[in-house]
Amino acid sequence: MKLAKLLPLIITNNELHAKWLNTLSLMENTGARKISACEDPLTVTYIILKHAAEEHRHAFYLKKQIEKAGSYPCPTYEHDYLLAPAQSRYYLNQLDVAVCRYLKNELGLEGKELRFAAYLLVTYAIEVRADELYPVYQEALESAGSKVNVKSIILEEEGHLEEMINQLKSFSACWQLHADKAVEYEARLFSEWVAALENELVL
Ligand SMILES: [Fe+2]
Ligand SMILES: [Fe+2]
Repeated sequence: MKLAKLLPLIITNNELHAKWLNTLSLMENTGARKISACEDPLTVTYIILKHAAEEHRHAFYLKKQIEKAGSYPCPTYEHDYLLAPAQSRYYLNQLDVAVCRYLKNELGLEGKELRFAAYLLVTYAIEVRADELYPVYQEALESAGSKVNVKSIILEEEGHLEEMINQLKSFSACWQLHADKAVEYEARLFSEWVAALENELVL
Protein backbone atom coordinates (compact mmCIF):
# COMPACT_ATOMS: atom_id res chain seq x y z
CA MET A 1 0.00 0.00 0.00
CA LYS A 2 1.20 3.54 -0.70
CA LEU A 3 2.02 5.84 2.20
CA ALA A 4 -0.68 8.28 1.00
CA LYS A 5 -3.25 5.52 1.62
CA LEU A 6 -1.83 4.59 5.06
CA LEU A 7 -1.65 8.13 6.40
CA PRO A 8 -5.42 8.78 6.73
CA LEU A 9 -5.67 5.54 8.78
CA ILE A 10 -2.84 6.68 11.01
CA ILE A 11 -4.07 10.26 11.46
CA THR A 12 -7.59 9.26 12.50
CA ASN A 13 -6.27 7.05 15.32
CA ASN A 14 -4.77 9.08 18.22
CA GLU A 15 -2.41 6.35 19.38
CA LEU A 16 -1.10 5.59 15.88
CA HIS A 17 -0.77 9.27 15.05
CA ALA A 18 1.21 10.00 18.22
CA LYS A 19 3.51 7.06 17.47
CA TRP A 20 3.89 8.18 13.85
CA LEU A 21 4.98 11.66 14.97
CA ASN A 22 7.33 10.14 17.52
CA THR A 23 8.77 7.86 14.82
CA LEU A 24 9.39 10.81 12.47
CA SER A 25 10.95 12.65 15.41
CA LEU A 26 13.28 9.70 16.05
CA MET A 27 14.30 9.61 12.39
CA GLU A 28 14.95 13.37 12.28
CA ASN A 29 16.99 13.04 15.47
CA THR A 30 18.99 10.18 13.99
CA GLY A 31 19.69 12.35 10.92
CA ALA A 32 20.67 15.32 13.07
CA ARG A 33 23.07 13.24 15.16
CA LYS A 34 24.55 11.74 12.01
CA ILE A 35 25.26 15.18 10.54
CA SER A 36 26.84 16.31 13.82
CA ALA A 37 28.93 13.13 13.93
CA CYS A 38 30.28 13.85 10.42
CA GLU A 39 31.33 17.40 11.32
CA ASP A 40 35.03 18.02 11.08
CA PRO A 41 35.93 20.09 14.16
CA LEU A 42 38.18 22.37 12.08
CA THR A 43 36.56 22.65 8.66
CA VAL A 44 32.84 22.49 9.52
CA THR A 45 30.95 25.17 7.56
CA TYR A 46 27.97 27.50 8.13
CA ILE A 47 25.80 25.29 5.90
CA ILE A 48 26.59 22.11 7.86
CA LEU A 49 25.95 23.82 11.22
CA LYS A 50 22.65 25.23 9.91
CA HIS A 51 21.61 21.85 8.58
CA ALA A 52 22.35 20.03 11.86
CA ALA A 53 20.52 22.70 13.87
CA GLU A 54 17.43 22.49 11.64
CA GLU A 55 17.28 18.67 11.76
CA HIS A 56 17.51 18.82 15.57
CA ARG A 57 14.67 21.36 15.51
CA HIS A 58 12.55 19.01 13.34
CA ALA A 59 12.98 16.22 15.90
CA PHE A 60 11.88 18.57 18.69
CA TYR A 61 9.03 20.13 16.69
CA LEU A 62 7.54 16.72 15.76
CA LYS A 63 7.78 15.62 19.38
CA LYS A 64 5.89 18.77 20.36
CA GLN A 65 3.16 18.11 17.78
CA ILE A 66 2.25 14.91 19.64
CA GLU A 67 0.26 17.06 22.12
CA LYS A 68 -1.94 18.22 19.24
CA ALA A 69 -2.52 14.70 17.90
CA GLY A 70 -4.71 13.61 20.83
CA SER A 71 -4.02 12.27 24.24
CA TYR A 72 -1.50 9.50 23.69
CA PRO A 73 1.85 10.28 25.34
CA CYS A 74 5.14 9.15 23.75
CA PRO A 75 7.75 10.27 26.28
CA THR A 76 10.78 8.48 24.77
CA TYR A 77 11.96 6.68 21.63
CA GLU A 78 11.56 3.25 23.22
CA HIS A 79 9.99 0.53 21.05
CA ASP A 80 6.50 0.79 22.56
CA TYR A 81 6.19 4.41 21.46
CA LEU A 82 7.19 3.88 17.81
CA LEU A 83 5.73 2.50 14.58
CA ALA A 84 7.88 -0.11 12.79
CA PRO A 85 10.55 0.41 15.47
CA ALA A 86 13.30 -1.78 13.99
CA GLN A 87 13.01 -0.42 10.43
CA SER A 88 12.68 3.17 11.66
CA ARG A 89 15.65 2.95 14.00
CA TYR A 90 18.10 1.37 11.52
CA TYR A 91 16.94 3.02 8.30
CA LEU A 92 19.61 5.70 8.17
CA ASN A 93 22.35 3.39 9.36
CA GLN A 94 21.54 0.81 6.69
CA LEU A 95 21.56 3.50 4.02
CA ASP A 96 24.90 4.73 5.33
CA VAL A 97 26.39 1.21 5.19
CA ALA A 98 25.20 0.70 1.58
CA VAL A 99 26.50 4.11 0.44
CA CYS A 100 29.88 3.63 2.18
CA ARG A 101 30.28 0.24 0.52
CA TYR A 102 29.53 1.81 -2.87
CA LEU A 103 31.97 4.68 -2.31
CA LYS A 104 34.74 2.34 -1.19
CA ASN A 105 34.27 -0.04 -4.12
CA GLU A 106 33.56 2.47 -6.89
CA LEU A 107 35.67 5.48 -5.89
CA GLY A 108 38.21 3.87 -3.55
CA LEU A 109 37.49 6.44 -0.84
CA GLU A 110 38.46 5.95 2.79
CA GLY A 111 38.85 7.79 6.09
CA LYS A 112 37.80 11.43 6.26
CA GLU A 113 37.04 11.62 2.53
CA LEU A 114 34.76 8.59 2.73
CA ARG A 115 32.92 10.04 5.73
CA PHE A 116 32.31 13.36 3.98
CA ALA A 117 31.22 11.78 0.68
CA ALA A 118 28.84 9.45 2.54
CA TYR A 119 27.40 12.41 4.43
CA LEU A 120 26.72 14.17 1.12
CA LEU A 121 25.08 11.20 -0.61
CA VAL A 122 23.08 9.85 2.35
CA THR A 123 21.80 13.30 3.22
CA TYR A 124 20.91 14.00 -0.41
CA ALA A 125 18.80 10.81 -0.62
CA ILE A 126 17.09 11.63 2.69
CA GLU A 127 16.28 15.16 1.50
CA VAL A 128 14.76 13.83 -1.74
CA ARG A 129 12.57 11.60 0.44
CA ALA A 130 11.68 14.37 2.89
CA ASP A 131 10.60 16.62 0.00
CA GLU A 132 8.17 13.92 -1.07
CA LEU A 133 6.98 12.63 2.31
CA TYR A 134 6.18 15.83 4.23
CA PRO A 135 3.93 17.39 1.54
CA VAL A 136 1.96 14.10 1.32
CA TYR A 137 1.64 14.09 5.12
CA GLN A 138 0.61 17.78 5.21
CA GLU A 139 -2.10 17.12 2.63
CA ALA A 140 -3.41 14.17 4.65
CA LEU A 141 -3.41 16.34 7.82
CA GLU A 142 -5.44 19.01 6.06
CA SER A 143 -7.96 16.53 4.65
CA ALA A 144 -8.42 15.06 8.13
CA GLY A 145 -8.79 18.55 9.69
CA SER A 146 -5.92 17.80 12.10
CA LYS A 147 -4.38 20.48 14.33
CA VAL A 148 -0.93 19.09 13.56
CA ASN A 149 1.03 20.81 10.80
CA VAL A 150 4.47 20.38 9.28
CA LYS A 151 4.64 23.40 6.97
CA SER A 152 7.73 24.85 8.64
CA ILE A 153 9.55 21.55 8.12
CA ILE A 154 8.57 21.45 4.44
CA LEU A 155 10.10 24.90 3.90
CA GLU A 156 13.39 23.97 5.55
CA GLU A 157 13.63 20.60 3.79
CA GLU A 158 13.34 22.32 0.40
CA GLY A 159 16.30 24.49 1.35
CA HIS A 160 18.27 21.43 2.47
CA LEU A 161 17.90 19.68 -0.89
CA GLU A 162 19.22 22.76 -2.70
CA GLU A 163 22.13 23.03 -0.28
CA MET A 164 23.03 19.36 -0.72
CA ILE A 165 22.99 19.72 -4.53
CA ASN A 166 25.35 22.71 -4.27
CA GLN A 167 27.73 20.78 -2.02
CA LEU A 168 27.56 17.73 -4.29
CA LYS A 169 28.40 19.83 -7.35
CA SER A 170 31.66 20.93 -5.77
CA PHE A 171 32.38 17.37 -4.62
CA SER A 172 32.26 15.71 -8.05
CA ALA A 173 31.46 16.51 -11.67
CA CYS A 174 29.51 13.26 -11.98
CA TRP A 175 27.69 13.76 -8.66
CA GLN A 176 24.30 12.90 -10.17
CA LEU A 177 25.44 9.37 -10.99
CA HIS A 178 26.50 8.73 -7.37
CA ALA A 179 23.44 10.50 -6.00
CA ASP A 180 21.15 8.32 -8.12
CA LYS A 181 22.80 5.25 -6.60
CA ALA A 182 22.09 6.55 -3.09
CA VAL A 183 18.48 7.27 -4.06
CA GLU A 184 18.18 3.71 -5.40
CA TYR A 185 19.35 2.22 -2.06
CA GLU A 186 17.06 4.57 -0.16
CA ALA A 187 14.02 3.63 -2.26
CA ARG A 188 14.48 -0.01 -1.33
CA LEU A 189 14.71 0.80 2.39
CA PHE A 190 11.72 3.12 2.13
CA SER A 191 9.46 0.47 0.61
CA GLU A 192 10.50 -1.96 3.36
CA TRP A 193 9.69 0.71 5.94
CA VAL A 194 6.24 1.39 4.43
CA ALA A 195 5.53 -2.37 4.34
CA ALA A 196 6.47 -2.59 8.04
CA LEU A 197 4.14 0.32 8.83
CA GLU A 198 1.33 -1.39 6.94
CA ASN A 199 1.87 -4.60 8.94
CA GLU A 200 1.42 -2.70 12.17
CA LEU A 201 -1.89 -1.27 11.02
CA VAL A 202 -3.23 -4.68 10.08
CA LEU A 203 -2.27 -6.32 13.39
FE1 LIG B 1 14.39 17.19 8.64
FE1 LIG C 1 16.55 18.01 5.99
